[in-house]
Amino acid sequence: MLLNFLLVLSSLLICASAKNLLINAGFESTDHWDCPHMTCTLSSTAHSGHHSLQITHRQNGNHGAQQTVHLTPGHNYHVRAFVKLLTQVNHNGEDFVINFYYKMTDGSTKYPQAAHFEGIKKSDGWVDVSGVFGVDKNVHLQSATLQIHGGSNGVDFLVDDATIDMIAVTPNEDWRKETDAVIDKIRKSDIHVQVTNKNSLHLPDVSVQLLQTKKSFPWGMSVRDTYYNKNAVNGKYRDFVHKHFTWATVENGLKWHTAEPVKGQKDYQPALDTLHGLRSHGIKVRGHNLVWSTDKAVQSWVKALSGQTLRNTVQHHIQEVMNLTHGLVEHWDVNNENLHGQWYQDRLHDPDYDLELFRIAHHNDPHVKLFLNDFGVISKNLHTQEYLQQALRFKATNVGLYGMGVQCHFFTNPDPYGIKERLDVLAKAGVPMWATEVDVVNDNENVRADYLEMAIRSLYGHPAIEGIVFWGFWDKEARRGEAMSWVKGDHMEMTAAGRRAFDLLENQFMTDSTHRLSSASHFSVRGFHGDYEVHVHYKGHELHNATQKFTLGTQEKTIHITL
Ligand SMILES: *[C@@H]1O[C@H](CO)[C@@H](O)[C@H](O)[C@H]1NC(C)=O
Ligand SMILES: *[C@@H]1O[C@H](CO)[C@@H](O)[C@H](O)[C@H]1NC(C)=O
Repeated sequence: MLLNFLLVLSSLLICASAKNLLINAGFESTDHWDCPHMTCTLSSTAHSGHHSLQITHRQNGNHGAQQTVHLTPGHNYHVRAFVKLLTQVNHNGEDFVINFYYKMTDGSTKYPQAAHFEGIKKSDGWVDVSGVFGVDKNVHLQSATLQIHGGSNGVDFLVDDATIDMIAVTPNEDWRKETDAVIDKIRKSDIHVQVTNKNSLHLPDVSVQLLQTKKSFPWGMSVRDTYYNKNAVNGKYRDFVHKHFTWATVENGLKWHTAEPVKGQKDYQPALDTLHGLRSHGIKVRGHNLVWSTDKAVQSWVKALSGQTLRNTVQHHIQEVMNLTHGLVEHWDVNNENLHGQWYQDRLHDPDYDLELFRIAHHNDPHVKLFLNDFGVISKNLHTQEYLQQALRFKATNVGLYGMGVQCHFFTNPDPYGIKERLDVLAKAGVPMWATEVDVVNDNENVRADYLEMAIRSLYGHPAIEGIVFWGFWDKEARRGEAMSWVKGDHMEMTAAGRRAFDLLENQFMTDSTHRLSSASHFSVRGFHGDYEVHVHYKGHELHNATQKFTLGTQEKTIHITL
């Protein structure tokens, strides 16, 4: 009660005192901002107010506007700036970073990152680059300077409305209360145990264990067919997947450009071998993907096609892959990353061809569940609204859309508030959502563990999320090596990140509850959904004839035990 009161009081205090640490953060003049090695002028294009800061003549990708601020060790800050590209050098977009430049009292320097946004394009307009940043409580700061930079050498951009707000209540306490409540409400149900004491046993000598043996929430992992089929690390690679997950995605083997890089030279066998291996271990699979619309993902022989030939080739390809994998996959990502590329629609001059791809797939197999799958919609605020609109359009046209895949590649610390806000937006589409490619990156395995926990809790603790698939676990296959790994090396040694994830998935999010009967012959437990075994012990010996199994779903369950 007192704690609640203090939390309420301190949240009131932050509301009253939330104050931007930056001076002239609306860039109505250039005062207080430093622009070493570049030119800063005022622009009359503004995100708000009348002006923004225009940055040109950067000599290096790391150059950008900066301001020295006062940070307090041990505190968390929400850091944000709006940026707008004026020129774009990199075809796939420019990466922006907000970081601090620390000078320590011992003379050393550090550049901790506060926010990161990958792939900003000129056509995106104003983009919100933001993140939650914690200052280590043991750091001895002499000064801290905020730097808003990024983009390739030579990229010009505008900055406006920058903020650094201290978050007085640690984010942990606030968001954890909410996600814990959701987890309790939607991932668990009541188990009522009724004991009939036919043999008049002394009940305080009887204990009943409710042991969950299988999770029904889908937890999945991406798998590389090369490692899986070749029994990488003496089979440890396969065993890891079989032991810990109930779902998987073949990372590359089913992609068209991987399986048929040259016209007619098809090889789906590696992917099919993996699918058969996974299924024989009871693992369900997301098919990924039928076509992939971003320019870089379309192979050159397909790029040479157009008109009816292109349509026929795509239709034949979709039918062929769906036929080959019939009964082996439960989901298909139909047209991967369509928010970020519309190659097929553009080539055919048919903006509705995205719908046609779903129609073809749905017609070929009405039972397999069809997904949109995109990035930058949860991990950051790019295209979130656009993704909602896209899903609503697919739903309205009735082309067989089942759900939305949100990839969730977190390049910086996952921000639980931002994740919730964006999931709430996408949930308005009213279709199931899967987190399809979750990964976090940090060189420090303990920080990585924290990031992974924040991502897992934020996603599992949101009612619209129906399943979670991670993207890589081993340092040799994860896209950024050890910085993304759960396990590393030839012995697949568990890192702090892997330990943390499994503590959640296999301990905290599973039920193992032992109840000693008192005089009462009934009790209730709230348990995670899944398969259970009931074990009864009397004076330390198991009563095997009382053992039973049951499955707990969204309905409450009553178990009868006769002693
Ligand atoms: C896919 O299977 C269907 C139904 O068996 C068949 O009609 C069709 O010709 C097959 N298409 C391809 C490309 O394999
Ligand atoms: C279970 O086994 C015990 C000891 O073998 C026996 O006394 C008891 O009647 C059995 N209970 C039931 C329900 O069959």
